[in-house]
Amino acid sequence: MGLERKIIADLDGTPYPIYLGRDVVDGIVGYVQEATKNNKILIVTDNYFKDTLARNIADLFEEQNYSVVIHALGAGKGNKTINEVLKIYSVLEEEEFARDSTLIAIGGGVIGDMSGFVASTWLRGMNLVHIPTTLMAMIDSSIGGKTAINFRHTINGIGSYYHPIANLIDLNLIDSLSSRDYTSGLAEVIKCGIINDLDFYHYLSENYQSIKNKSQEHIIEFVKRTIEIKIQHVQGDVREGSKRLLLNYGHTLGHSIEVSTMKDGHEQLRHGEGVSIGIMAVAYIAGEYLGLDSTVYGSYKLLFEKLGLPVDVSASAMGMQRETLLNACIKNVNKDKKRLNNKLRLILATEIGKASVFDDVPFNIIENAFNHIIKV
Ligand SMILES: NC(=O)c1ccc[n+]([C@@H]2O[C@H](COP(=O)([O-])OP(=O)(O)OC[C@H]3O[C@@H](n4cnc5c(N)ncnc54)[C@H](O)[C@@H]3O)[C@@H](O)[C@H]2O)c1
Repeated sequence: MGLERKIIADLDGTPYPIYLGRDVVDGIVGYVQEATKNNKILIVTDNYFKDTLARNIADLFEEQNYSVVIHALGAGKGNKTINEVLKIYSVLEEEEFARDSTLIAIGGGVIGDMSGFVASTWLRGMNLVHIPTTLMAMIDSSIGGKTAINFRHTINGIGSYYHPIANLIDLNLIDSLSSRDYTSGLAEVIKCGIINDLDFYHYLSENYQSIKNKSQEHIIEFVKRTIEIKIQHVQGDVREGSKRLLLNYGHTLGHSIEVSTMKDGHEQLRHGEGVSIGIMAVAYIAGEYLGLDSTVYGSYKLLFEKLGLPVDVSASAMGMQRETLLNACIKNVNKDKKRLNNKLRLILATEIGKASVFDDVPFNIIENAFNHIIKV
């Protein structure tokens, strides 16, 4: 099965194509040739793809007389660091890569975010192609131009905005994805339904069993719809002044839980797991602060549970005392990037399918929400 969908992302006046379907990576040489005459390629990938997909893509380019370097690194958010970035810069310098050379990022959000940051900064910007390999990366991190690395306790603390020349979303890659990584990506899919599209939320709820089982028919549909919603929110607001902010639904408290549960610099929760717990936390806040009907909270909880996403976090399962985790979450949430004039900026869904920005939720309600979702 070849190319199935082409979506043009025109986020800030520099449109680029997103190819979505099975086997779309097969056309990669042609897509790069359309954008540049330079024949040097750096593939940045996680070790998982070093000898398989990355090698196959390198072969495709080498058959056309390109010079290709593969740089592989370990998976996981613990590697999304300045040290790994410096290693990539060293390769770029030693191998004399130019601005019109191409960096191809093959991996999940960690590889995509870090490679995007490198591509945006090397010689003030070189060509970038995304080949996202996790569901999370396909529907979220590879679209919208946010690039980042983590800095100490600040998730995505250092970064930039930078778009690729092409994004190749090959759904074959989902087949090998672990059930935990696949499910984690579903949290962002559901988020898009909650903030933007009631019908889509219903579709996800009604088809949860086939979606959980990676049904091909549903995957292409929900991936396409989620990408459309993401583009709709980012278009004309790349720097997150208004409608893009809504995509952060569930992220402020979710990030805080993600970072507070890290052990020795390594994640214990996937990003999407942090988001699903974060969504339950803001749904709780919407109940207390806006009087949102408790059936809405119940509906999210049921859907997450049916899909296997967490709805709370157990401190002991994270190897922590409940009080310690609670205090860490409260401390870390205050470092959130969306903070404005010392107030936390929260996105709350006012009903399923609609969300708004709130700048004045009292902090004690935020503490109550952490209290609610952190278990012993
Ligand atoms: N830039 C953005 O807008 C944005 C949005 C959301 C998330 N993010 C970032 O994305 C990161 C999380 O990304 P992620 O969830 O993709 O995690 P990840 O990149 O760590 O990948 C998760 C795991 O899946 C493995 N893997 C990847 N593709 C696979 C495949 N096809 N088959 C089998 N295994 C595969 C990886 O080796 C890794 O072990 C976080 O750092 C988060 O901050 C960024």
